[in-house]
Amino acid sequence: GVVYIPCDSAAVAVGVEGVADAFSTELRERNLDVQVVRNGSRGMHWLEPLVEVETEQGRVAYGPVRPGDVPSLLDAGMLEGADHPLCHGLTEEMPFLRQQTRLTFSRCGVTDPLSIEHYKTHRGFLGLQRALSMTPAEIVKEVTDSGLRGRGGAGFPTGVKWNTVLNTKGEQKYIVCNADEGDSGTFSDRMIMEGDPFVLIEGMAIAGIATGATKGYIYTRSEYPLAVSALREAIKLAQDAGILGPSVMGSSYAFDMEVRVGAGAYVCGEETSLLNSLEGKRGVVRAKPPLPAIEGLFGRPTVVNNVISLATVPVIMDRGAKAYYDYGVGKSHGTIPIQLTGNIRNGGLFETAFGLTLNELIYDIGGGTLSGREVKAVQVGGPLGAYFPPSMFDTIFDYEAFAERHGILGHAGIVVFDDTVDMLKQARFAMEFCAIESCGKCTPCRIGSVRGVEVLDSIARGDRPEEHMELLEDLCDTMKMGSLCALGGFTSYPVMSSLTHFPQDFQVKSASQQ
Ligand code: NAI
Ligand code: SF4
Repeated sequence: GVVYIPCDSAAVAVGVEGVADAFSTELRERNLDVQVVRNGSRGMHWLEPLVEVETEQGRVAYGPVRPGDVPSLLDAGMLEGADHPLCHGLTEEMPFLRQQTRLTFSRCGVTDPLSIEHYKTHRGFLGLQRALSMTPAEIVKEVTDSGLRGRGGAGFPTGVKWNTVLNTKGEQKYIVCNADEGDSGTFSDRMIMEGDPFVLIEGMAIAGIATGATKGYIYTRSEYPLAVSALREAIKLAQDAGILGPSVMGSSYAFDMEVRVGAGAYVCGEETSLLNSLEGKRGVVRAKPPLPAIEGLFGRPTVVNNVISLATVPVIMDRGAKAYYDYGVGKSHGTIPIQLTGNIRNGGLFETAFGLTLNELIYDIGGGTLSGREVKAVQVGGPLGAYFPPSMFDTIFDYEAFAERHGILGHAGIVVFDDTVDMLKQARFAMEFCAIESCGKCTPCRIGSVRGVEVLDSIARGDRPEEHMELLEDLCDTMKMGSLCALGGFTSYPVMSSLTHFPQDFQVKSASQQ
């Protein structure tokens, strides 16, 4: 038999290593010949550590498993998939998984992340193989036709970006993977890097072949040590297998890559600041133009794509552009890995075609709040995303639908808050966050955010609230229009949405003072 025990950070954080130790001790003492595979996470965080066993019917899930549960699980006949209070039946039949469309995450939690064999038996490298039979322009067209848009948050068409790099002359071009996942409540990049690193390697190799780049960098954060080691190990395995290197899979194309670790500044997730950091400089934002696609890393044409954009390319190349394009709604094609976090019962990763409503995501799939209290607000799109009240939960998950309601999808993290949240404090937090993380290059962001905190403190104190409220709106406008990058520019989203949708939280304070 085979037992799957995840090695993902989410499982590690809740003690999976103790569970793995308990299994190895028990299996040894009971003289059981069972193979233990360390897999990635299935993304059902409330059930981690989630242990699975292979049975004739398929994999059966047990969780959350504590070290002390192991003897009773084995006594109950877990290895045959027997019932137990922690048993959830067949993994693939669990509602949270069954309702998903897993394309980018098809292997995550299923395979051993560092087994090329597993990767290949689950359609690994077929996309790359197909790409090698096409011309660069054909690959770029395929990615364009798939409708894939930048999953880092901005939603810019990936194929169009690649086309700019393909058509820009340069002796050296680069593929830079933005893995500086900094949005609150997001972990999809990390899950891929830890749970299926070869898919990112494959996606970057395809990007290289498509645009004429021979070197790739994955820029990630020091807070992701397990992702860093998984990637480094996977890159070495790919090099040894002839997938990366001077001849990609025996072709005339060369492509190699390495991992670089940043020191953890939010602004280093902004592409030009990231490039500065990669070059060994301070992570300060560069003015655009020139676009990185024209003058990027070391001044060379560079594709900068998020992990999920790149990791989605292999499935597009494998199944064809149309298969991917047909998922989704409007101009949002394909699937998106939505990350449900905060005060939510069933938190985790839910990959689905664009088009579900927030209501469906928060209540039907997420099961409402963990505290059992009413949902008061959700923040979508990271610390710079807008807060939506329940009256707006009919908004569908789609780039344009969010933009229409003055929100952003960002990196597709949904953070849920119950009715104990104070929205004035959340607005203050947004300004404070901007003040701390500002790179300092432009005035509206560097100084505006500090003034924003002061103005919100005045409102909280009931000090001339009407006047200060007007000042706050003015300030948000200036930051939105006058900032060089999204950090200063988008801080107005959480602040203004709090003010617009939750005015009571701003008024109560002033009334009580009068
Ligand atoms: P942007 O709209 O300025 O640019 C989008 C991308 O398209 C950039 O890579 C840009 O270089 C590229 N581009 C534009 N025109 C092009 C052309 N003609 N040819 C080739 N490339 C072209 O947005 P930006 O500043 O890159 O990203 C802002 C977004 O980042 C926000 O929406 C926010 O949601 C997201 N974000 C994500 C975070 C995360 O952790 N993933 C953290 C913070 C923000
Ligand atoms: Fe730097 Fe803020 Fe200006 Fe962005 S908006 S360039 S983070 S100062």
